[in-house]
Amino acid sequence: MLQIKVKIISNKRLKGNYWHCVLSAPSLARASRPGQFLNVRVSDGLKPFLRRPFSIHNVCGGRLEILYEVVGGGTRNFSCRKSGDHLDLIGPLGKGFDYRYAQNKRVILIGGGIGVAPLLFLSRAIKSMDKLILIGARTKGQILCEKEFKNFISDVKISTDDGSRGFSGRVTDLLKNLISIEPRSKKEIQLYACGPKPMLKEVCNIAKAHNLQAQVSLEEHMGCGIGACLGCVVKTKNGLRRVCKEGPVFDAQELIW
Ligand SMILES: Cc1cc2nc3c(=O)[nH]c(=O)nc-3n(C[C@H](O)[C@H](O)[C@H](O)COP(=O)(O)OP(=O)(O)OC[C@H]3O[C@@H](n4cnc5c(N)ncnc54)[C@H](O)[C@@H]3O)c2cc1C
Ligand code: FES
Repeated sequence: MLQIKVKIISNKRLKGNYWHCVLSAPSLARASRPGQFLNVRVSDGLKPFLRRPFSIHNVCGGRLEILYEVVGGGTRNFSCRKSGDHLDLIGPLGKGFDYRYAQNKRVILIGGGIGVAPLLFLSRAIKSMDKLILIGARTKGQILCEKEFKNFISDVKISTDDGSRGFSGRVTDLLKNLISIEPRSKKEIQLYACGPKPMLKEVCNIAKAHNLQAQVSLEEHMGCGIGACLGCVVKTKNGLRRVCKEGPVFDAQELIW
């Protein structure tokens, strides 16, 4: 874990409230694993006082990318940072995805909204040739990273809540449909998901119902981001666990919703 100031190479609006930031951070990039996150001081002043956590979206050479949605004051401050500015951050933090056993499996990634953020780095790291990603969005204008995922995954499926593109309905309904016609044995399938809480809860229910291996990346409000304040705990079968330290990635079978 490092606390360093890194240079912003670019920080641009992708579409709507979604932004993409590229940082020059060779030592951090080398140390980062898919599913880990960075705790970012988004402004030089005291507002907001707390750092904001963001997944590592991608690592490319000595560059590190963050994909983020502007939802409040902190992320608005972040979007005002310019190329050439320096960003104070701590990372890489947390326990990422375990993908050691995924190489020979049918891998299904499920990303809801900004939840696609950590899945790009993961999709590059998993060497399985049998990969599928389900990208869920409210409407077609909010579909994220479709082109980027196509560089690493041949099978990219889209769902929109309003039916404006792809499957009409929730991304978890699309997942259910696909699982019901999946010819492979359940042991050969591995799910990885990130997105809003209700989506992750449903992914865990689907995994339990079909006895599938699944890992989900949780997003909780965070205080310290380094395991000290207990502000981010969730209930698991092994007791309370800190999302910033024992997570953010958890096994679906472990979580109690
Ligand atoms: C491990 C982790 C990884 C994350 N990765 C990303 C990422 O890659 N891209 C991204 O855009 N966001 C990510 N988030 C969420 C991001 O940290 C919050 O959106 C951000 O902190 C909001 O700050 P703000 O000051 O703009 O909003 P605030 O003014 O603090 O809040 C605005 C709204 O966002 C909600 N919110 C705030 N923090 C969180 C949170 N941690 N989880 C869920 N909802 C929250 C609040 O309830 C409120 O409704 C991640 C969170 C965690 C814990
Ligand atoms: S945010 Fe402080 S313990 Fe997790």
